Amino acid sequence: MPVGLLALGTYVPDKVLTNEDLARFLDTSDEWITTRTGIKERRVAEQNQFAYDLAERAVLDLVARHGEGALADVDLVIVATNAPDAFFPNTAALIQNRFGLKAAGYDLLAGCPGWIYALAQAVGQVEAGLARKALVIGSEVLTKITDWRDRSTAVLFGDGAGAAVVGPVPDGYGFRSFVLGADGSGGAALHMGALANTLPDGTRMSNKIFMNGREVFKFAVRVMDTATLEAIEKAGLEKADIRLFVPHQANLRIVDAARERLGLDWEQVVVNLHKYGNTSTASIPIALKEALDGGRIRDGDHLLFVSFGAGLTWAAAVLTWYGGGA
Ligand code: UT7
Repeated sequence: MPVGLLALGTYVPDKVLTNEDLARFLDTSDEWITTRTGIKERRVAEQNQFAYDLAERAVLDLVARHGEGALADVDLVIVATNAPDAFFPNTAALIQNRFGLKAAGYDLLAGCPGWIYALAQAVGQVEAGLARKALVIGSEVLTKITDWRDRSTAVLFGDGAGAAVVGPVPDGYGFRSFVLGADGSGGAALHMGALANTLPDGTRMSNKIFMNGREVFKFAVRVMDTATLEAIEKAGLEKADIRLFVPHQANLRIVDAARERLGLDWEQVVVNLHKYGNTSTASIPIALKEALDGGRIRDGDHLLFVSFGAGLTWAAAVLTWYGGGA
């Protein structure tokens, strides 16, 4: 039984922080940020908005688009986040309660690829008969864990959330492949400590987002290439079969490198990082919904997702779009 996406909803906070705003308190400029990343502005959650609140709004958007019925039969909730409200209770359990679902719920921590990791788990559980439908959410308030004195990271991140219902779709549609990977030897390159002071390799951890941008950049370009090609091959497709590429929205130069290796035109690539910056686990569902609303996705299109991030981790997936759902 194929499993695909049946419904989609997203949310970004109203408050906009532009590059010019950042240049008022950081030694940076719109010119530097634009040429090095492609980002022009990002959204910032209100003081009293956290991962749960953004996730809730994304699910409300999903329900507004698809109706209450979209949540019927959802018996699993997974929230991918790198900035949870609490160690426990988990965000997914709070969402289960908010929407009155009879469902299992857990959070998943896997860096920016967390939403694709969560999709893979949801698809696997539906295929195995462990769940009927799953609500898979990516929700981030990275601006709350940003070191606002560090210009090399503070300019990159934004807040947002995306939610999707995963469930059975007709033959010929649905997820055709997943590629997931991790390499903890690069863990120090992108970290934020919690209880421990150091990583196993002795690296003293920061209590805000720390990143060695150059190292992560090189890793990203490498895995975007290998993971996408592997996902296309596992799906039994060729590069030319991919209709739309929906990459993690971290840096336009990274997206461009992947686009070139895949031999795609810009019209086949979804880019919205200029508006939202890097929203981590939320970046792909937000980009996907924009593409859908912009009429860029048709029934039967083969879509390619890819992401990379803290762990270090990476993930890619190929989805044949079911137009009768979302
Ligand atoms: O979801 C995964 C998250 N991670 C990422 O997506 C990050 C991947 N990495 C990147 O996107 C890029 O490495 C960055 C955008 C973070 C940085 O771009 P870069 O071209 O790798 O620049 P760099 O780190 O090599 O820095 C070049 C220069 C440095 O100055 P010097 O040493 O050449 O004098 C930095 O101090 O740019 C300086 N710099 C800045 N200047 C103005 C770093 N950040 C800024 C800034 N404004 N915001």
